[in-house]
Amino acid sequence: MVQAVRALRPARCVVVATGAGMSRDSGIPTFRDALTGVWAHYDPDELATEAAFRRNPARVFGWYLWRRRLVRAAVPHAGYHALVALERIVPELVVVTQNVDGLHRRVGQSRVVELHGSLERFSCLAARHPFPPDQVATPDAEGECEPPRCHRCGAPVRPDVVWFGEMLPQEATAAAWEWSTRCDAMLVVGTSGLVQPAAQLPLVARGAGAVVIEVNPEPTEISAAAHITCRGPAGAVLPALVAALTERERP
Ligand code: APR
Repeated sequence: MVQAVRALRPARCVVVATGAGMSRDSGIPTFRDALTGVWAHYDPDELATEAAFRRNPARVFGWYLWRRRLVRAAVPHAGYHALVALERIVPELVVVTQNVDGLHRRVGQSRVVELHGSLERFSCLAARHPFPPDQVATPDAEGECEPPRCHRCGAPVRPDVVWFGEMLPQEATAAAWEWSTRCDAMLVVGTSGLVQPAAQLPLVARGAGAVVIEVNPEPTEISAAAHITCRGPAGAVLPALVAALTERERP
């Protein structure tokens, strides 16, 4: 932790790259955690694809509405608020997240790049015409739910998230790479580093001369690229890190 504080103190530009582990301490199961309820017998890799949506739109759409309800009930933990405090200490800070739960935005983080989209956004299958999220019903029961139709072209509406096999949003990807090549330090929080191309970011940052700090209770594919490792949960490590940084700030 001391090494991480020493590395972050002089940093003028910091990228915080977060994955599903960032939301574990808010009780949000990651994609790969055992699914519960009506979804227990589905394989998420089966559900999170365009083919699955075309095969059974009501099932896939219902599953995403269930995840959206789960996420809306979640309370962002102290680690989320620590990152908001951090952006007041560091001249330039951006969060680049693989998560679709919208929690960084919900706690008021100013700059968030959502690499894999968001459960709170919807667009149509045919042409990705945006669809107003407040017109997407929130069924009270879990289960399949027929998606609405696009107001412009009549195609079924889908969640605006990146499905397996799909390209990442161009603008978000370009921004993530740009920030990763410019930053002095990158905090990598709660990602296994198994999914490309997001897993490249720590390597891009390291290659551009940034200090890479990993926050994760377990070793990961990214650990080898990290100069500094803080083994622990985001909900505890991030508040401690920011407290230590603000401590020395006091006159
Ligand atoms: N704090 C920090 N990290 C944690 C915590 C915690 N409390 N609990 C678990 N972790 C770590 C795990 O050790 C693991 O390394 O979070 C990581 C979660 O890894 P994944 O579940 O693979 O999540 P992620 O890396 O974000 O997956 C990337 O894959 O499922 C698809 O598109 C989906 O965005 C997702 C992508």
